[in-house]
Amino acid sequence: MPIRLRLTLWSCLIFGVVLMAITSSIYLVHRTSLYNETDRSLESVALHVREEVQKEIKQGKPLSEIRLPSEEYSTNGVSVWMKDAAGKSIAKSANPFRAPDVSLPETHALKRELHTFTDPALGRYRMLVAPVLDQGNAVGYIQAEISLKQIDSSLKRLAWPVLTGTLAGLFLAALGSWFLARKALSGVEIISQTAKAIAVSQGFDRRVLYTGAKDELSHLADTFNEMLESLEKAFVSQRRFIADASHELRAPLTTIRGNLDILQRVKHIPPQDQAEILADTRKEAARMSKLVADLLSLARADAGQEIRMRIVDLSKLLQEVELDMKAWNLQATIRCEYGASALTWGNEDLLKQLLLIFAENAVRYTPEEGLIALSVDADKERCVMRVADTGIGIEPQDLPHIFERFYRSESARMHASDGTGLGLSIAKWIVEFHGGNIIVTSTPGQGSEFQVRLPKIKD
Ligand SMILES: Nc1ncnc2c1ncn2[C@@H]1O[C@H](COP(=O)(O)OP(=O)(O)O)[C@@H](O)[C@H]1O
Ligand SMILES: [Mg+2]
Repeated sequence: MPIRLRLTLWSCLIFGVVLMAITSSIYLVHRTSLYNETDRSLESVALHVREEVQKEIKQGKPLSEIRLPSEEYSTNGVSVWMKDAAGKSIAKSANPFRAPDVSLPETHALKRELHTFTDPALGRYRMLVAPVLDQGNAVGYIQAEISLKQIDSSLKRLAWPVLTGTLAGLFLAALGSWFLARKALSGVEIISQTAKAIAVSQGFDRRVLYTGAKDELSHLADTFNEMLESLEKAFVSQRRFIADASHELRAPLTTIRGNLDILQRVKHIPPQDQAEILADTRKEAARMSKLVADLLSLARADAGQEIRMRIVDLSKLLQEVELDMKAWNLQATIRCEYGASALTWGNEDLLKQLLLIFAENAVRYTPEEGLIALSVDADKERCVMRVADTGIGIEPQDLPHIFERFYRSESARMHASDGTGLGLSIAKWIVEFHGGNIIVTSTPGQGSEFQVRLPKIKD
């Protein structure tokens, strides 16, 4: 069932119940007060007559000789009939009396009683029976009656407008809530149409144009647009990533194929040239496998696969990296420093990969006579790893971009051709995954320092 219909039905139900409760209670209160008033006037006439009669009895007059007092009560529409204890009529008011001739001693006790009768021709009427007492004994009865015809028909006249008014109110409420629901939900319609259009066209650059008031729906539209924006960004960067990756893979492949072509086509290549071509091919193949390995690391990071964590001793990792670097046979001087014990919660392989990325960069962008300093230390809260070099440095305009995928600065491209531009984006992911951060300081031409801060486990 659509929300619009549900809202309308609910509001009709609530409004209808409230309306019905109000109108019917007004009607009932009015009705009761009308009947009570009739009873009161009936009672006051009957008791007045009885009092007069009892006064005369007290004066010694026999009941059979007593006439009804004056007739002024009949102006109220009340008819009175007096009977003796045996039910024999003694006196009767001038206006007609309709009540059935009930046998009084059987039906009525010493107290007064009120009855309602229905006369087929004249409608309903109310009757009061009150005993005439002489020293505590009922010597006769006063029967007084009043017609309810007028009240009944006036109540009937009132019931119709009340009922039709209630129904009309209900109808108006239904109409109003239907329109209100439509107005309130029109924004939702706009948003769902945009979503549908995006699903069909995959155009994440579309936005919901919501012009209504600043309310929950405009908030929903804003949130939806924010979501579209981040989707668009992800979509565009994913596309660019694929384009960049294919481009980067094509370069080494072209070189390898070119070299193989030469080897196949040219019959007699001097052994020295042949060795050079093979070395070049080998270098390009190595660069390609490095690129593929880096892409794989990033794909794994994006996939958010589960990573095993345990306590890692960063000093131990630096020792391993130091050994690796010694095996690289570098001309640059390498200096490693070990400070306070630095234990962190993390994945050993990833953290070693992190150190190697910085070490590789330092080596790659530092001339042979340079100095590369690595250190692991810790303060109260954090473990700090530093990799500093006296290399080419990073231009200020490049600094904001070096962590982007495939980004390589102009000077880096000139200095070393064998980078992939993926190292630092992997490093950034590893550090963020471990809840740390990276601080880079660099002076072009003088050197750079990468500082990684990771949460520390207190030992
Ligand atoms: N130690 C460093 N000295 C100078 N520039 C650096 C250093 N480390 C990183 N960079 C700059 O950051 C860029 C991105 O680094 P990275 O992602 O590791 O890619 P790659 O090393 O393959 O070029 C490099 O191209 C270079 O411009
Ligand atoms: Mg690198």
